[in-house]
Amino acid sequence: MVAKSLEVRPLAETFGAEVVGVQLSRDMDADTFNEIKALWLRYEVLLFRDQQVEKEDLIGFSGRIGPLEIHLREEWLSKTHPELLQITNIREDGKPTGALADGEVGWHFDQIYLPKPAIASLLFSVKIPPAGGGTHFADMTAAYARLPRHLKDVVDGRTAVQSYVAFNQMYSTDTNAKQKNLTPDIAHPLVRTHPYSGRRALYVCPGMTIRINGLPDDESRAVLDELFAWTAREEFIYRHDWRVSDAVLWDNACTMHRRDDFDGEHERLMLRTTILPQPDRAIPF
Ligand code: OGA
Ligand code: MN
Repeated sequence: MVAKSLEVRPLAETFGAEVVGVQLSRDMDADTFNEIKALWLRYEVLLFRDQQVEKEDLIGFSGRIGPLEIHLREEWLSKTHPELLQITNIREDGKPTGALADGEVGWHFDQIYLPKPAIASLLFSVKIPPAGGGTHFADMTAAYARLPRHLKDVVDGRTAVQSYVAFNQMYSTDTNAKQKNLTPDIAHPLVRTHPYSGRRALYVCPGMTIRINGLPDDESRAVLDELFAWTAREEFIYRHDWRVSDAVLWDNACTMHRRDDFDGEHERLMLRTTILPQPDRAIPF
């Protein structure tokens, strides 16, 4: 069925796999590419170690999965390759040259605050600190499948408000007028149906989900807290400890992620592509 020739090593109980012996080149052959795409859908998070790749490869490979978004954080894009968002604490004139510069970053889905959020992200490590800065992923398909009945009854058929403002406030990140205009609070279903696999996953995260629609405030808060505690259970988590030249491709429809703190005296530089659903699946719910 899946993976006729690629070697795969599972990373966690319910999801995640390392794909061994593949380079993510822009001109990868179609058979290998199709296998990887099938593995990505099945495992949700794929790890590729020791990538000898150029920026054009990260962009070219990602662009075959779906159209690439030029991230609204213009100030943090690669100057030469705007399809790449820099995630880094490296500073110029005292200002970070990338997103999520320092410290811990809480659980979130990339772009959950947009009407048509990304379906995938590919993150490549250029420089990593000697300790800390690991990235944790949570399998929201499994978290939904195993959700206790009383929570399932609340989330099914409901929407929640997603707020980029709340996320930026949490990290004291400046947002200009154009970026603010692009990111008003927005409602999405609390359970997201994957546009390619049809599987259902919880679509809620502590970093950006601020309210469940149709519930009184105190009840909404209590249910969100229960959901956040549930999705952070060990059984749903894979923690990735980075080495230089790792590439991790994750499914943004059914996994969320967070980052551990690290010593800011050390430079950390990652490059990310942001991948949209194919146009015929433009409404990803
Ligand atoms: C991201 C992200 C966390 C990290 O790239 O979207 O959240 O480990 N990164 O830097
Ligand atoms: Mn992220």
